[in-house]
Amino acid sequence: MNVVGGMRSLLDTALDRALDLAIVPGYTSVGYRLRQTAWGEDPPPDALRGQTALVTGANRGIGKAIAAGLARLGATVLLTVRDREAGERAREEIIADQPQFQPADVLVEVCDVANLDAVRAFAADLTGRVRTLDLLIHNAGVLPATRTETDDGHEITLATHVLGPVLLTERLLPILAKSSDPRVILMSSGGMYTQSLPADDPEYLGGRYSGATAYARTKRLQVALTPILARRWANQHISVYSMHPGWADTPGVATSLPGFRVLTRPALRTPEEGADTALWLAATRPAPPSGGFWHDRRPRPEHYLPLTRYSDRDRERVWRYCAGAIGIENP
Ligand SMILES: NC(=O)c1ccc[n+]([C@@H]2O[C@H](COP(=O)([O-])OP(=O)(O)OC[C@H]3O[C@@H](n4cnc5c(N)ncnc54)[C@H](OP(=O)(O)O)[C@@H]3O)[C@@H](O)[C@H]2O)c1
Repeated sequence: MNVVGGMRSLLDTALDRALDLAIVPGYTSVGYRLRQTAWGEDPPPDALRGQTALVTGANRGIGKAIAAGLARLGATVLLTVRDREAGERAREEIIADQPQFQPADVLVEVCDVANLDAVRAFAADLTGRVRTLDLLIHNAGVLPATRTETDDGHEITLATHVLGPVLLTERLLPILAKSSDPRVILMSSGGMYTQSLPADDPEYLGGRYSGATAYARTKRLQVALTPILARRWANQHISVYSMHPGWADTPGVATSLPGFRVLTRPALRTPEEGADTALWLAATRPAPPSGGFWHDRRPRPEHYLPLTRYSDRDRERVWRYCAGAIGIENP
């Protein structure tokens, strides 16, 4: 690298870090556009040709944008939703937007990822129908107003963001392992930076319940478990990433955070901008190192605040709790 190139890279790195620390500009479309200027080439248009990708929560928002982006890169995409009609509507919209898509490029699958029995049944069915799964994107997310438990008795954000995704991946290992370059992505949130690991109370049984806190704690859990899952699935050559999309204007934000949306709307990212890093992690070659947390195409620190730090013992403890909850016998 020459001197000018070196200076430029130093400036890019300094700007990138400043955007991360300043949060508001970094998480909005301002950060996206500034960082975009330093990115190299995008993955080529046929980067995922011949691959099969599954995206949960793909009927709207960022998940729908990820699904459309994967199909644009040539993948066959399984839009995995809990309401078939909503999935079919999203599928029609994605196909109508891109005349080059064939109907078989985008398919609808039904699974409520918070329901562990539904996840087991779905995975058993899918492994009998699909030979190889190359990409598994756990995008489904929820920010509840009140504490809710699933039929299995788990707090809903824990079930949706952690238990369901880990169980689904475990059960899909046979078809993921057939891919030459399988990748699993957990869609976390920058909100996780505000919370530590709920190692003593993963089900949020104690204290006054706040949906936003439950959301941020379980998004933290996704990030904390990523290195453990990366080691666990390394035998199948699976790369595992967690990431956050910044702040994107989606139906979920409009419903769950209306005040935040009013304040930030002009600067919010589009769902497509929120989807960018997931698409990049899915399609860039070679696969980035497994086990880390990403945002805007770069690895990011697990912590900014000293108060959120935790020990490896606590990380292991909460992993054992989750593994037990979904019936993994050898965590
Ligand atoms: N938008 C942001 O600024 C932002 C910021 C940080 C992180 N994120 C994360 O990015 C992801 C997508 O966010 P978004 O803003 O696009 O959210 P959204 O508009 O609320 O969409 C969430 C999607 O998840 C689905 N979903 C929820 N629970 C599910 C379940 N049990 N089983 C299957 N699907 C389920 C929803 O399906 P239904 O339509 O059936 O409800 C919907 O398709 C989430 O994980 C979110 O936490 C978003």
